[in-house]
Amino acid sequence: MQDYQDVLAEILIDTASLQKRVAELGKQISDDYRGEDLLLICILRGGVPFMVDLSRHISVPHMMDFMAVSSYGVGKRESSGSARVTLDLQMDIRDHNVLLVEDIVDSGHTIAAVLQMLGTRQPKSLKVCALLDKPERREAHVPIDYLGFTIPNKFVFGYGLDLDEYHRNLNFVGVVDLDKYKPAE
Ligand code: IMP
Ligand code: MG
Repeated sequence: MQDYQDVLAEILIDTASLQKRVAELGKQISDDYRGEDLLLICILRGGVPFMVDLSRHISVPHMMDFMAVSSYGVGKRESSGSARVTLDLQMDIRDHNVLLVEDIVDSGHTIAAVLQMLGTRQPKSLKVCALLDKPERREAHVPIDYLGFTIPNKFVFGYGLDLDEYHRNLNFVGVVDLDKYKPAE
């Protein structure tokens, strides 16, 4: 894999902006769930850095669980119509206030499938917190209750978002320079 510097077209959201917005979201979530039980569910793998940082700004007692979903796809960077759970939750969400934490809502199919599946398990409430929203690519309608940033239709990486599984660790969100990026065969 190439170094990120070699495939970065531009920094879209810098570290300070990310941290400021994540703190705001944490405050808002803390206000909304004051006195309530809360279970954060991270959608692996992209949601990890965001959920970890967000959690530190949530002042109400809360639990965490994790799940993974894979979308049947056209290509690796496209999401198609259906999604499949590849790692289910450990916890029973019944009667819990569930907040899904996801890196990005793109076509919307991933979150739509997760919402549909978890909805059948009788949670007390079920909401969505997404760091990024790419509305131009939406195919499935999904409600986003807490949103970090709306972004243009560009392929981005960093802060949980991967470039063929690499570079999730970066503390900013960058745009990929598709002329410079050479995917491994
Ligand atoms: P959706 O089902 O199309 O909404 O897909 C959402 C998933 O696609 C996210 O969880 C990401 O893993 C991936 N994804 C969508 N856009 C990007 C991007 O620009 N960079 C990296 N991953 C992306
Ligand atoms: Mg993802």
